[in-house]
Amino acid sequence: MITETLYEDDNHKFLYIGKDTDRPEYIIDTNQYLVVHDKVGCVLDPGGIEMFSAVSSSLAGEIRMSDVKYFFCSHQDPDVNSSLALWISITDAKVIIDRIWSTFITHYGVQPSNMIMIEDNGMKFNMTKDYSFEIIPAHYLHSPGHLNLYDPISKILFSGDIGAGLMPKEDLKTKKGRNIFVNNFNDHIKYMEWFHQRFMGSMEAKKAWIERVSKLDIETIAPQHGLIFKGKDMVNNFLNWFDSLKVGLYSK
Ligand SMILES: [Fe+2]
Ligand SMILES: [Fe+2]
Repeated sequence: MITETLYEDDNHKFLYIGKDTDRPEYIIDTNQYLVVHDKVGCVLDPGGIEMFSAVSSSLAGEIRMSDVKYFFCSHQDPDVNSSLALWISITDAKVIIDRIWSTFITHYGVQPSNMIMIEDNGMKFNMTKDYSFEIIPAHYLHSPGHLNLYDPISKILFSGDIGAGLMPKEDLKTKKGRNIFVNNFNDHIKYMEWFHQRFMGSMEAKKAWIERVSKLDIETIAPQHGLIFKGKDMVNNFLNWFDSLKVGLYSK
């Protein structure tokens, strides 16, 4: 498991946790993230139940479990949050998720009293008294209740399944070791193309999302799978590519 700091200052940190090359090939590779502000932690897409021990031991080196106050779930999929069943037994954290999934994630044992249900338009969420992040609607890309998180301090957009790259284990390694960033955008398209064509349901939803996020000052797009788009040029490469891609029924 790689742990890498994407941003850090005196009281704010955005951390990457992922690329577990010990996982079996039949489990999709997932990226987990941790945002910490003034010692209050929020885990973004905590991952599947199979990843719990690897993710929790990586997190334990970074934050006390009692300081994890929130789990932000981009959507309902098992690779995003089936580990909640275990997390809720060791933390008192609240689960932030789109309202339409609130009666589904109860199947992971999360009680409604432990959820913060987000309405369709998203919101500004006050994580501490002087820090808030933006919850951005990304519905139908692919989930009908899909949320992104924008951190205005690091200028990182956590994009859930948007920007996901499906990469075989051997392609995660470079000569210098395991890599978490996209280096050559054109080479990276082959990992993203089928997933976006097949999973993203609507050209209209895609257009609305691109218009919405284009108004943000984004330095990094951090997806739940694959490599991270770092730097404004790489962010624009992704937005332009996604804009021109035919998805859903239109991809036929
Ligand atoms: Fe998904
Ligand atoms: Fe996913």
